[in-house]
Formats: sequence, structure tokens, C-alpha cells
Amino acid sequence: MNNIIYIGVNDRETDLFENQYKVPNGVSYNSYLIKDEKIAVMDTVDSKKTAEWLENLAKALDGKKPDYLVVSHLEPDHSGSIGEFMKAYPDTEIVGNAKTFAFLPQFCKLSPDTKTLTVKEGDELSLGNHTLKFLMAPMIHWPEVMFTYETTEKILFSADGFGKFGDLNTDEEWLDEARRYYFNIVGKYGVQVQAVLKKLSDYEINAIYPLHGTILNENLGFYVDKYNTWSSYAPEEKGIFIAYASIHGNTAKTAKELARILSEKTDDKITVADLSRSDISECVANAFRYDRIILASSTYDGGIFPCMEDFLSHLKAKNYQNRTAGIIENGTWAPMSGKLMKAYLESMKNIKICQNTVTLRSSMNDDTAEALEKLADEIVSS
Ligand code: FEO
Repeated sequence: MNNIIYIGVNDRETDLFENQYKVPNGVSYNSYLIKDEKIAVMDTVDSKKTAEWLENLAKALDGKKPDYLVVSHLEPDHSGSIGEFMKAYPDTEIVGNAKTFAFLPQFCKLSPDTKTLTVKEGDELSLGNHTLKFLMAPMIHWPEVMFTYETTEKILFSADGFGKFGDLNTDEEWLDEARRYYFNIVGKYGVQVQAVLKKLSDYEINAIYPLHGTILNENLGFYVDKYNTWSSYAPEEKGIFIAYASIHGNTAKTAKELARILSEKTDDKITVADLSRSDISECVANAFRYDRIILASSTYDGGIFPCMEDFLSHLKAKNYQNRTAGIIENGTWAPMSGKLMKAYLESMKNIKICQNTVTLRSSMNDDTAEALEKLADEIVSS
């Protein structure tokens, strides 16, 4: 049957999604048209792409008019074309929940004659052969978010859930860019994701149609398992992520020496990142990916070197938890970064901090080698 047509757009012009996350392969704003006795448009796109999207829509409509616009998420990358859409198709009924309609006027000014249909958990809307069932998904990752389950073809329209960076012309695996997307955008809301996954377990799903990235229509257990792992804050695999913040290179050299020592003691994956140069969203994703982390930072102005402090604040904001952490600090006259990083980690949930902190006084010496050995043994055996 599948009269569901993709009408989304690719965006290769935006360099930073949300003005903060690099998107080297662009991003897609997905939108779908369901053509049945009644016609439903599933979400609009970012205002940067309104004209192209309206063209896609008109072509797919082929002279017909839409009956419904389902708004599953109001963030501007999806709601940015609602105003222009309603000017073009003013008789369309907008479908959303109470929160959708509470926030909608904050994003666009609509005619007072605009028709709206307010739905709540479990409500159904028949289009003919297709029926839309609305499942609320609050805080994934905004309050008004709702998923839509099409009951005939068993398709889940999952809003931002199961989305990824990279436009639809990108030939890359789903996993890395979906992980980076998940932890940086949805990561704070693991509890809410778990609640929705529990709800979805009652439904047979043949395909997932997200608002970003690839449509998923096979091996769905793989994607659901990943979301279950990520949202429960469990590590995805055994490994050690070493993140360093180094002013003149001595802390960097020490972090790399620890990586070398570790590589002789374990076959687990070891990943090293220079926080001054690495994309912070990749570092956040790696911190969640592995079960252990090493933080190595110089002291700066009596505090933590800023790129490490920035990294830690991102981790805290995303509810980083359930990991083992080791610390390397550096300071010429008053090393403070270790104490301060420890305090940061202690403010997070269930972080086991290694007893063996490595303290550098400017650069590595014979004592450092012994301290690194001890930290390496502790982190390998933890
Ligand atoms: Fe893709 Fe939360 O917007």
C-alpha cells in the first residue's frame, strides 16, 4: 500500500547544527506525506529550506490539498515552515497536543481562523486505509514532542528519536553519527527515553521514520537496543577514553604515555582526544560510549584549563553517570585541576574515581612513570 512519500530536504549549507554541533555531511529535515482518502503532512522543515520543501510537497500532492499537518515537534528545524505552509494551504487542520498549541504562537503568527485538532495519548485519526495513533513522548527532547504510529503499515514516526546527523546523500553507517546526535541532543533525557521505549514495546513496528537521517526499515532491534543502552546510561562497550587539556604539551605527552602503557596492559579500545582541538560533541559521545574515562588537565588561573572545564560542564548537563574515571593533573606551583575535576565528577551520579591520581609538576619525571603505572593498573582492573 505504502502511499507515504518522503518530501524532506537536505541541508549542506549549515556548518553547525543548533549553532554548536559540526555537521560535515550536512543534516536532513525529514517530512512525509501520507496520501489516502485524507492527506496528512508529517511535519515541516527549517525555514532555510521552506521553498524547496514546498516544491517537494506540491509535487507529491499532485494537485490535491492536504487535510492535516501533524506537528510532532516545534523546534525551528521542523516548525520553521508552518507559517508559509498555512499561507499556501490555509484550510489544513493542524494536529498537535495541548503543549503544541501552547507553544505554537511563540513560533509563528497564524490566522485566527486556523483549524486545529488537539490530540492526547492514544487518540487515533483515520485517513482512510491509514490510521494515525498519537503517542506522547515528552522531553525527547522538548515537552510537546509526540510520536505517531501508523497502525496499518506499522510505521513509527519518531520525531527526533532515532535521528542522526548527515544528510540523506551521506553514505555512512548510522551508528557514529546517531550516537553523537543522541548524546548531545537527547542525552539529558534518558529517563524519558526509557519510558517511551517501554511504551513502544507494546507495538509491532515495521519501520521508523525519524525527523533526521535515514529511514530505518530493517533490523530494527539493533537500533532499539542502542537506544535502550544509551538511555539507561550503560556503557556501549569496554574501552578507555582519554581526554586531555594541555597548555604547552606536557599534559598531552603524559596522557599519550598513559595510553601507551594501557595498550600494553589491555586489548580494550583506547581513544585519545585533545580537547583544545577535538569537536566537543564527539568527545561527549566517546565519554558515553566507553566504560572508563581519564581526564588530564593543566591548572590555569588556579582552576581547570578552560577546554576541560567546558567538556565537564557538557558531560554534567547530559547526565553523565555510571563510569570509572581517572585523573591526571598538572601545575607548576599549585596544581589545582585534579581537586577541581574530582569535585566535578563527584557531583555526577555513580562515578567511581580511581584512587591513584597522577600529579605532574610541569613535566614528566621518574615519579610520573611510576604513578602512571599505578593508575593504568587500577583503571585496567576496575
Ligand atoms: Fe530536530 Fe529537536 O529538533
